[in-house]
Amino acid sequence: MEFSTNTSVSIHQVKTAALAVGIFTEGVLSPAADVIDRASHGAIRAVMKTEFTGKANSTLVLRNLPGVAAARVVLVGLGKQAEYTARIHARAEHAFVSACVSARVAEATTTLAAIACPGSTVTDRARDAAAAACEATYHYEATFGKPDADARPKLKKLSLMLARSESAAAELGLSQGSALGEGVSMARTLGNLPGNICTPTYLGETAKKLGREFKSIKVTVLDGKQIAALGMGSFLSVSKGSDQPPRFIVMHYKGKTPAKTPAKAKAGPIVLVGKGITFDSGGISIKPAGTMDEMKFDMCGAASVLGTFRALAELGLPGEVVGLIPTCENLINGSANKPGDVVTSMSGQTIEILNTDAEGRLILCDALTYAERFKPSAVIDIATLTGACVTALGSVNSGLFSQDDALAEAILKAGKQSGDPAWRMPLEDAYQVQLKSNFADMANIGGPPAGAVTAACFLSRFAKAYRWAHLDIAGTAWKGGAVKGSTGRPVPLLLQFLLNQSV
Ligand code: BES
Ligand code: MN
Ligand code: ZN
Repeated sequence: MEFSTNTSVSIHQVKTAALAVGIFTEGVLSPAADVIDRASHGAIRAVMKTEFTGKANSTLVLRNLPGVAAARVVLVGLGKQAEYTARIHARAEHAFVSACVSARVAEATTTLAAIACPGSTVTDRARDAAAAACEATYHYEATFGKPDADARPKLKKLSLMLARSESAAAELGLSQGSALGEGVSMARTLGNLPGNICTPTYLGETAKKLGREFKSIKVTVLDGKQIAALGMGSFLSVSKGSDQPPRFIVMHYKGKTPAKTPAKAKAGPIVLVGKGITFDSGGISIKPAGTMDEMKFDMCGAASVLGTFRALAELGLPGEVVGLIPTCENLINGSANKPGDVVTSMSGQTIEILNTDAEGRLILCDALTYAERFKPSAVIDIATLTGACVTALGSVNSGLFSQDDALAEAILKAGKQSGDPAWRMPLEDAYQVQLKSNFADMANIGGPPAGAVTAACFLSRFAKAYRWAHLDIAGTAWKGGAVKGSTGRPVPLLLQFLLNQSV
């Protein structure tokens, strides 16, 4: 997708296939809508009496308005003016681009980003517009034998109309939004690819490809032997139940300039750790068949790290970021983990595997121990970790767990800014007793109560050497049912978090 700014003053003279103008409820027109209404002798106000009320997310296409050069004017509802927010703006841009995709236009122009809204800058709004456009034009066809050309969005160019004084700020936002959009699309496609294609080897190759594309990312992919040499007995115990070999992916991004940090603190890198289970059958503690296909999405944490790295490198952000991805399948051959097995993690702590389906924490714990060598300023792991988190928070918020208030606040803020929210969950020592084992240093499950919390408690035992936060994205990384597919979350949150560190 190509983005540009247009600073022409006469909106009605802009030649474009589709022009978005914003309408609030209670008969309030945005300045651009007012210009078009006057140029067309009241065409907009006329429909506002009948079929268009300005309800948020609604759109109405008007064609061939007299006195207007645009082939189509798309009215986009913004809701009540007093309640207008950056989120409503982002959804409005999404609704407009969706209308453009339906109308099969190749190019479009929006005036929505010019409308001020509280707490957002032009850069923010341009970023949101570009990201929403990428989102609305995303299309998966990798595994169709006969891709449907008609289903492929035609829209290739989006132009933002704004005042000349705002165009530089908008251009910056467009580059951020475009990079974010690419990162989200990459994460979505990796998530959507089936388990027989998107294997641990495939994820390793994808990381290497990123390293070839961007000089700022150095990639190392470790194989089973090298993983064994590191002593990652917990991670390996999961992988040995499958014929697919495991991989441990290490990505190291270095921006041209260091991130701005308080004078005293010589800050180490931020480390992102992504769960990369390319298929989770549950193992011997096998899952029910009903929606087991969705367990191909169990590598969405890994996909979000890869997508964030793509965006990071594309933007050339300052600072240093390390990405770690332990990746394997959770299957059931004769060497698979059995309930009651005890394994030794890289940290030396032993783990009694009471449920082979609690495998995410078994691969993440060794990656968290590996992260220590970078002397990180912060570590964030991202994992489709527990069904319990879906029960607690549904598909709206990702679960955030951290003992570090400042880090947690920064992540929550990034989530709000990017429209990719997280909700902080408790992580107290009082829950740790649930992990007690009679035969090892800990059990890998804590029983049914507070399942998302005990999973985080388990991870916390391996993350004591640095500031750490855990994002449980089990409810947010993909959608099921008729709209089944990966969402690309939490790439927007992660990129926003890194953007905030760099300014
Ligand atoms: N990948 C799943 C978590 C999951 C389940 C995500 C359903 C989204 C929807 C994870 O590996 C898992 O199976 N967790 C178990 C843990 C339990 C055995 C303690 C779960 O949530 O049931
Ligand atoms: Mn599982
Ligand atoms: Zn899993």
